[in-house]
Amino acid sequence: MARTDWYKDMVFYQIWPRSFCDGNGDGVGDLWGVLQKLDYVKSLGVTGIWFSPLYPSPNADFGYDVSDYRAIDPAYGDLGVFDQVVAAAHERDLKVVMDLVINHTSSEHEWFRQALASADSPYHDYYFFRRGSVDRKGRRVPPNNWDSLLGGSAWEYVEALDEYYLHTFDKAQPDLNLDNPAVRGEVEDVMRFWLDRGVDGFREDVITFVSKPQGLPSDVLGLPGSRGLRLYNCGPRLRSYLMQFRRDVLDSHDCMVVGEAPMLGARKALALTAARRGERPLDLVIGFDHMQADCMYTEYLPRPFSLRKLKRAYAQWQDALGESGWCALYLENHDHPRVVSRYGSDAYRAESAASLAASYLFQKGTPFVYQGQELGMTNVSFDSIEQVPDPQAQAHYRQMVKGGKSPEDALALVNRAGRDNARSPMQWTGEKDAGFCPKDAHEGPWVAVNPNHVEVNVAAEDDDLMSPLNFYRRAIRLRRLLPVVRSGRYHEFKRASSKLYVYARESTWSRLLVMCSFSDEPVTFHVPDTYGDLGDGVLALSNYYVTDAEADDANQLTLRPWETRVYVFGRDAVLVD
Ligand code: GLC
Repeated sequence: MARTDWYKDMVFYQIWPRSFCDGNGDGVGDLWGVLQKLDYVKSLGVTGIWFSPLYPSPNADFGYDVSDYRAIDPAYGDLGVFDQVVAAAHERDLKVVMDLVINHTSSEHEWFRQALASADSPYHDYYFFRRGSVDRKGRRVPPNNWDSLLGGSAWEYVEALDEYYLHTFDKAQPDLNLDNPAVRGEVEDVMRFWLDRGVDGFREDVITFVSKPQGLPSDVLGLPGSRGLRLYNCGPRLRSYLMQFRRDVLDSHDCMVVGEAPMLGARKALALTAARRGERPLDLVIGFDHMQADCMYTEYLPRPFSLRKLKRAYAQWQDALGESGWCALYLENHDHPRVVSRYGSDAYRAESAASLAASYLFQKGTPFVYQGQELGMTNVSFDSIEQVPDPQAQAHYRQMVKGGKSPEDALALVNRAGRDNARSPMQWTGEKDAGFCPKDAHEGPWVAVNPNHVEVNVAAEDDDLMSPLNFYRRAIRLRRLLPVVRSGRYHEFKRASSKLYVYARESTWSRLLVMCSFSDEPVTFHVPDTYGDLGDGVLALSNYYVTDAEADDANQLTLRPWETRVYVFGRDAVLVD
């Protein structure tokens, strides 16, 4: 089957199932809840859904520790209701993309159980088991110095085997050995299983980590905390494994493959997504550079927000991917705090939510919107570490306290940086439990609801034309309408400004000018002479009421706090007039 580039015209909505909508009243989101909300998803104008893992999982990493690749976690439903969701999504012209976690399994996966049971089991070589050594003082030393990305060594000792196994994440997430052809065969079978059930593609979790260097050497140059990462990120056989999956499975389906690629620069992203000698390992890449405008590498090393850093990252990717590469555009997902709380403004929550939306939705790539982002949902503040469910946050907290931070300061950083900020229940109404659970539910939500659900919720924003929700709807519709957004060149103005982000998309016949204020104060902007008068274009989108006179006003304009405006010039303008 010929593969087409349909993903280039898509806008995806990401559902983190545990916190989206509880259909059966047990306090946990599920697929019955998703079925109820598909019309809402459709109303956003998006054209596809990416589901974070739905597989059975002991939840050491909330679904990213998979214990069975061919089933649905009973908390979310079963294959029957999954099939209903796929059918109902397809009826609404929504594609469905599954998360695929193949860097590691859960330690409770049957393969790992067998691997632990005997070094002679064929499953033993599904993972990286190695002998350690003993130092001069007689202490056991792991096979190399790699760090788990959650802290401590990446190796866990197994007494019964007198061997260690590798886990680049939690010890409950042993790394799969993709160098073993049998493991790659299993991955392909899993892909076929879901494609045969009708899914339209995969989001491949930390896919750039799956090829470890031969001999698993110690990392003598890596930064403490991430030793090893340098060696296995974009490892030696990554390309060949991805191409094998293409040839054996994916090429015979018109599906999309998006790869999560932490710590991967734009140049390498290009190498993975641009065709070279007829090979294109991934369709698009999820980069991380623009998620570091208020931190160093991770949100747990915070810095003040810098718009210039954000713009540099945006521009690097837009420029580098040029004509041939493609990337996922996003500002939120289940791994990052809410963007309004990071890059936006508490005082101008709704306005900043809209300005942030316009800052990325018109770039080149495929946009993803994370559940609740379209409402301008904000971070939650947990009162104690016991209320924080994410084991990653717990691990950071323990390390910080061990390193001498006071428990109060450590909790404050968890509240700023933690992933549960994005995992609090979706805010449907201003009522009890934010309408996340059915009214007669026997259990409350599994994690605290943000108290601001009283004002920030779907029901309230639906009725308000200027709400973030309705802004997202207008912006997504506009994006999908304009050919210049798919293919236009990226051009940026005022690169040095720390208050304004202004960019254009330009093709032979049309131009799009996007202005985004990132300031609580008014800011003036002089429209470049090459654009002629603003009156020559059409004001296609804004987050404040703008009179006709204001819209067409010559070339010097003052943007109000967090104001955003999008103008269209040339042929595409006819489409919005
Ligand atoms: C990805 C997932 C994240 C998970 C990690 C390990 O980054 O998005 O949630 O913790 O991989 O699977």
